[in-house]
Amino acid sequence: MLNSAPNLFASLNADNLKLKNRIVMAPMTRSRAIGNVPNDLMAQYYVQRASAGLIITEGTAPSPNALGYPRIPGIFDYEQLEGWKKVTEAVHEKGGKIIMQLMHVGRIGNYENMPEGTTLVAPSAINADAEMFTDAKGLLKTNTPKELDLSSLHATIEEFVIASKNAISAGFDGVELHGANGYLLEQFLNPHTNTRTDEYGGSIENRCRFVIEVTQAVAEAIGSKRVGIRFSPYGIFNSMPKYDEVYTTYEYLAKEMNKLNILYLHVVDAAARQSQEGIGLISAMRGYFTGLLILNGGYTGERATAAIESREADMVSFGSLFIANPDLPYRLEHDKHFTQPDEATFYTPGEKGYTDYPLYKE
Ligand SMILES: Cc1cc2nc3c(=O)[nH]c(=O)nc-3n(C[C@H](O)[C@H](O)[C@H](O)COP(=O)(O)O)c2cc1C
Repeated sequence: MLNSAPNLFASLNADNLKLKNRIVMAPMTRSRAIGNVPNDLMAQYYVQRASAGLIITEGTAPSPNALGYPRIPGIFDYEQLEGWKKVTEAVHEKGGKIIMQLMHVGRIGNYENMPEGTTLVAPSAINADAEMFTDAKGLLKTNTPKELDLSSLHATIEEFVIASKNAISAGFDGVELHGANGYLLEQFLNPHTNTRTDEYGGSIENRCRFVIEVTQAVAEAIGSKRVGIRFSPYGIFNSMPKYDEVYTTYEYLAKEMNKLNILYLHVVDAAARQSQEGIGLISAMRGYFTGLLILNGGYTGERATAAIESREADMVSFGSLFIANPDLPYRLEHDKHFTQPDEATFYTPGEKGYTDYPLYKE
């Protein structure tokens, strides 16, 4: 039928990416990468979830400075690249697609979790005043970051470029830049965490400059249709205070991302929908950006179906449901019950609460 409504379970041809359905596994840090190197257990975890149309990996550090948490993987050395190859090969063998999320923590970190010689960096030297788990000493406070001077700011952009090329060499179908949830990219957007007086701080254009330059540099390095970016407008996670110009900031970003012709925007939309000021922002962003839109945040099968059929989104990503339901697309399509995830094992090492969730059985 011509012009029939799109369907959550139908395939999607997205430029050079052929996806078997519109169900995306959201990026989720699981802290199983001992020594920051991806391993066989992680390959098993991802392959169990390869029935998703698209998997987005856990936040992965583009450089040693970006490693603020315990046991998160990186993509800046040979061993990590080789480890990730096992993941991408296994997922591709099952007919899945997989994109790496590049997460630079910025100020959200503690030196106990970071290798010797690294520096916690941010747009401005403002402590997040947050709690951070460390393997050595349990809960500690975040350290105060060092303000990026212009030369280290440009070096950080270059780290994203090298990491993206590494991701492509490791077999990924693309990269997602983590511009959400209070990490480095978002720290530039928010005037409370970015108090710079140079061309990277102040006006909306200046605060967005770093995010745009990172995206542009990565797009030039690996191809714009291999790049997506994640945003969380109105989100306050990781000590991100609200500010007046959220709406116009994300309108501007959606237009700029459109100019860069990237593959997708991935928007964590819950906070915008819940805030009075955010009404209309998600559809405004959709209007400005002609690439794909992935929505996320508390979606059920029913809401996801409605969002896809009404063309509000092209894909919907699911986070916690994918942790405990490796065959989530099957369960959504056949209306089967969901296993509840065990939060106590979200970030603990080993297979418990990671690769031991069963497939659906009648
Ligand atoms: C254990 C866990 C780890 C997460 N790690 C990340 C991450 O590394 N990068 C990211 O962008 N979001 C991360 N998130 C947020 C999820 O991607 C998603 O936005 C959130 O769970 C809301 O979606 P849901 O309601 O479908 O779970 C994480 C969420 C959970 C539960």
